Amino acid sequence: MAYLELKNIQKSFGDAHIIRGVNLEIQKGEFIVFVGPSGCGKSTLLRLIAGLEPTTSGRLMLDGKDITQLASGKRDLAMVFQSYALYPHMSVADNMSFALKLAGVPKDEIRRKVAHAAEQLNLTQYLARTPKELSGGQRQRVAIGRAIVRAPKVFLFDEPLSNLDAALRGNTRVEIHKLHVALGATSIYVTHDQVEAMTLADRVVVLKDGVIEQVGTPMELYDHPVNRFVAQFIGMPSMNMVPASAIPSFSSQTRGRLPTDGFLGVRPEGLQVHPGRPRDGAGVPGRVDLIEALGADTLIHIDVDGVPLIARQNERTPLRIGDDVGVELDPSVLHLFDREGQALAA
Ligand SMILES: Nc1ncnc2c1ncn2[C@@H]1O[C@H](COP(=O)(O)OP(=O)(O)O)[C@@H](O)[C@H]1O
Ligand SMILES: [Mg+2]
Repeated sequence: MAYLELKNIQKSFGDAHIIRGVNLEIQKGEFIVFVGPSGCGKSTLLRLIAGLEPTTSGRLMLDGKDITQLASGKRDLAMVFQSYALYPHMSVADNMSFALKLAGVPKDEIRRKVAHAAEQLNLTQYLARTPKELSGGQRQRVAIGRAIVRAPKVFLFDEPLSNLDAALRGNTRVEIHKLHVALGATSIYVTHDQVEAMTLADRVVVLKDGVIEQVGTPMELYDHPVNRFVAQFIGMPSMNMVPASAIPSFSSQTRGRLPTDGFLGVRPEGLQVHPGRPRDGAGVPGRVDLIEALGADTLIHIDVDGVPLIARQNERTPLRIGDDVGVELDPSVLHLFDREGQALAA
């Protein structure tokens, strides 16, 4: 049986139907990431699980118990927010031990747990400091430490990295990942950032407008998106999406499987760009719109008959804006969608 189960969870605020029937089973020890555009209901869903907000309907089961009506404090969950919500006048040690003190845990046990969590989070030397004497990344680690000492059944993270600058975000993401590997704790992590989702998750839940679009491992979502939304949300830059009628010689490579009103999806690494106008039918003619040289990767933006495409190659390019090119696609990595955007079996 699943460790945490969401059964047809719905949430309305007045007339606004925000969470529209979510079913999900989470296994013990899994790192689950909820990802989706801003406003799709990720935080709301997390707050329903945390018990910070009552559900409108549906049931929540945790470790065999129905927790739908249980008060937040009794659910055995710990939440880490984007704003660290630390007590500014308390030391790191006091911030981390606060919940245990409230719960009446013996002093030496608190000391032991805080020391252990501080060690895991590289905070040992900062235990006597107050939050304002710490960097953003250290503060976020204190917030995580405060959750760890409680040894909750499930960790809930709501965009914990979005207040950090890019470099720190990368480092802290790696730390959270390592921590998860070390603790093996069940975690639900909310983010709008698909890179965080792809790198952290055992399984990713893609949400849109309060509905789950797809659940799968990062590579399942990348290789087999069930619809256009998931196909274009996962992956950077986004999958190229070409209407079937826009570039006939591309569509003809699907051996008649692409409906005339459908869409052909191809990831940037599935396009090859050759300098000069194509000869002998090797690709379709296009023109370079923009080059983005990232060092290890080069993104080549191309216009093919008014259709914008992005190709990614892991070599540098002598091409320049305005150059004529031939664009070829790798027929083994095509994605086909019907006019509603549903994926067709490849
Ligand atoms: N307490 C509330 N009252 C009314 N509307 C709310 C409330 N909380 C969230 N919403 C609405 O629910 C939608 C989803 O919000 P949220 O879950 O915060 O999205 P996300 O975290 O995915 O960006 C938004 O349209 C938001 O305005
Ligand atoms: Mg949110």
